[in-house]
Amino acid sequence: MKSFLKFITPLLVLSLSAISCSTTKKDSMSLPSLKSAYKSDFLIGTALGTSHIQERDSLANQLIITQFNAITPENIMKSEEIHPTWNKYNFDLSDQYVAYGLKNKMDVFGHTLIWHSQLSPFARRLEKDSLQLFMKEHISTVVGRYKGKIKGWDVVNEALNEDGTMRKSVFYDKLGDDFIAQAFILANQADPNAELYYNDYNIEQPNKRKGVIEIIKKLKAKGVRIDGIGIQGHWSINGLPLQDIENSIIEFSKLGMKVMFTELDITALPNPWDLVGAEVSQNFEGSEKMNPYTAGLPDSMQLKLANEYESLFKLFVKYKEDITRVTFWGVNDGHTWLNGWPIRNRTNHPLLFDRKNQPKPAYFKVMKVKDPNFDKKQLVP
Ligand code: XIL
Repeated sequence: MKSFLKFITPLLVLSLSAISCSTTKKDSMSLPSLKSAYKSDFLIGTALGTSHIQERDSLANQLIITQFNAITPENIMKSEEIHPTWNKYNFDLSDQYVAYGLKNKMDVFGHTLIWHSQLSPFARRLEKDSLQLFMKEHISTVVGRYKGKIKGWDVVNEALNEDGTMRKSVFYDKLGDDFIAQAFILANQADPNAELYYNDYNIEQPNKRKGVIEIIKKLKAKGVRIDGIGIQGHWSINGLPLQDIENSIIEFSKLGMKVMFTELDITALPNPWDLVGAEVSQNFEGSEKMNPYTAGLPDSMQLKLANEYESLFKLFVKYKEDITRVTFWGVNDGHTWLNGWPIRNRTNHPLLFDRKNQPKPAYFKVMKVKDPNFDKKQLVP
């Protein structure tokens, strides 16, 4: 098979020269890219780390700008990074992130305003009134700074337990479940034109889904604006919950929500909690059983992963009227949080591009969902 970059590079050069010659042809539809293939369906996004934002890896950068039209910051906008102490905000990287997206004509998303995890350490210790003040300062400053530039914000992240009840976070403990309404009201005040989302994992599962539906209904009853739901989509090669995903798309969109898959990846490795009697523990580190594909993903597993992605994207296309964005949580397998979670130092393979930025069989299957002749057309010289 020809090297992927061999075939995208000439097209990239062509499209770049088209940009310089004419403003009307700048978004070349002829590029064999995910974003072009799904242009009439939904945005195709990726999550960026600091090295991407700073364009330190030119091959990854080519991949980002040719394949994706939406970006999410993987970590740099989380409160511990952007707002580490009361009076200190770190805007350098987030400014670069937003500028990178705008320069490349991408839709730029914000992640995430109110989350118990990766929360500024000082905020964890606040009592009710000061925590409320923190929310006000944090949301109005961060959202206000990027008003008109960020298309949508994950306003509240992961507020629910698996059974659909409210998670006992610092926000819930000090402010009760009203913290969610407060966060959405503040975000709306700071940028009335930005879309506002609730984002969480496993919310396709019936119990947790009910919790999300309650949140939506409560916000609506109070007249508080919420525009969409981000289903994170951290799934496993050992079985996709396709029926639950479909039911969730239907139920969330019935409530007027835009549906997004905001952090898509499919782990190819065993999870500690899938094993009977196993615990999430560091004992698994260095264990071959838990890290079986250090030399690459075997063909049979590549095919399995490809088939999962294919069924997922077929479902997404079926509901393209309801789905506005599908964002992968990373650019390539070399840069995925799943190499370090839930067990550190593993070699995972959850995305469409491998460690050398080459497209995997899963990429071709996803492209073929839109164009059955895709691989023949693109790869036969
Ligand atoms: C992850 C990042 O990918 C890691 O780099 C970081 O160490 C931990 O957070 N749900 C979310 C994301 O909303 O922000 C998380 O991102 C993954 C789970």
